[in-house]
Amino acid sequence: MLRTYTLRSSGLRRAFSTSARRADRAIVYSKNGEPPSVLRAVSYPPLDAPRSGTINVKYILSPINPADINVIEGLYPAKPSPDANLQSLTNESLFVGGNEGLAQVTSVGSGVDGLSEGDWVVPIAPQSGTWVTSRNLSPADVVSVPRADGLSEAAAAMLTVNPPTAYNMLHDFVNLKPGDWVVQNGANSAVGQLVAQIACKEGWRTINFVRNREDFGALEEEMKSLGADAVFTYDDLADKGLREKVKETTGGKPISLALNCVSGPVTSNMARYLGAKPPTKPHLVSYGAMSKQPLSLPTSLFIFKDLVSCGFWQSRWYKTHSKEEKEELIRKVATMGLKVPKHEIVEVGGEGASDEAVSKQLTEVVRRVVEGKTGGKKVLLKVA
Ligand SMILES: NC(=O)c1ccc[n+]([C@@H]2O[C@H](COP(=O)([O-])OP(=O)(O)OC[C@H]3O[C@@H](n4cnc5c(N)ncnc54)[C@H](OP(=O)(O)O)[C@@H]3O)[C@@H](O)[C@H]2O)c1
Repeated sequence: MLRTYTLRSSGLRRAFSTSARRADRAIVYSKNGEPPSVLRAVSYPPLDAPRSGTINVKYILSPINPADINVIEGLYPAKPSPDANLQSLTNESLFVGGNEGLAQVTSVGSGVDGLSEGDWVVPIAPQSGTWVTSRNLSPADVVSVPRADGLSEAAAAMLTVNPPTAYNMLHDFVNLKPGDWVVQNGANSAVGQLVAQIACKEGWRTINFVRNREDFGALEEEMKSLGADAVFTYDDLADKGLREKVKETTGGKPISLALNCVSGPVTSNMARYLGAKPPTKPHLVSYGAMSKQPLSLPTSLFIFKDLVSCGFWQSRWYKTHSKEEKEELIRKVATMGLKVPKHEIVEVGGEGASDEAVSKQLTEVVRRVVEGKTGGKKVLLKVA
């Protein structure tokens, strides 16, 4: 059967035909702004066979991470480039959303070694645009991930950003010994859940802070089932009475590493729990600012405790490490048997769905993410 698809963009209408091959789809934006307002779906013709030295992939699942929202808003330092394929079709600069995801190799061009049809790969090139059904990629921009060891599609789709971030922050700043303590806020975030799990597997102990909520008991249980040793709220943190409880929990052992996901006064209060025996210096490592508030720290912590306050950015780590090192890290976290952070899979599109209908569907999903109404679950997009 001969089918004709029509691509509408910027007033440009372009028709293409295909026998038995359906159109592919991307979630795009042409200018920065509020994601529910600027994102839309656009269909494009199926990819040609891959050129020599390249591969074609189909995306299986792609998370919507907080940083993806910031990129679309234009508030993130890493900027994507306009999509060349869509630009040639529409004559418009379109950016494809998404930085992370799981893709499957569908076709391998000549001269490509080490990748075969059916392999699972994850992108390591920053801001490559993963909210899409298919892509032509350079093998240098992906790492293949093992399909063995019960790694689910959801776990593989979330391999590039959060598990390496959690792993590196626990390993790269303080030389933790078995039984040492780590404290973190935003502990129920995907990164925080992974920090609790990796620390537990390595024999390190964690004190975890979260926002207060009606069902705090349920969250506390969930966190403990991941390996968290203690879970408190930011309200507890503001109460001086917590000092004794923490001392009881740690047996008075110093806490030499604090991981900051939210910033603001919560973090100033958490930093007061840091301390270390010289020559170890207590480290406050900031990786997120979910409260959108600045970070201010008591000067006394620098003078009397020799506090080191620094940041961590996994994107910088990727920029400064070789492909082999990236592969090693991703394989390591893929095979650690980590429980996948809470998530929901949302399919947008499907056979016969118009771009207008998919754009509407997507707007609703993204609005829920932006407004924090996903019930603490990471949304994984399946673009169809
Ligand atoms: N530096 C890096 O390399 C790097 C890498 C990965 C992630 N990150 C950053 O780490 C953070 C978490 O990412 P993720 O993917 O783990 O996120 P996530 O799973 O979507 O979790 C978001 C977390 O933020 C909390 N939160 C939301 N709004 C808040 C507010 N106004 N005040 C305090 N807490 C708030 C949520 O708590 P509730 O449950 O209470 O809403 C939840 O714990 C983001 O800022 C992300 O950009 C940085």
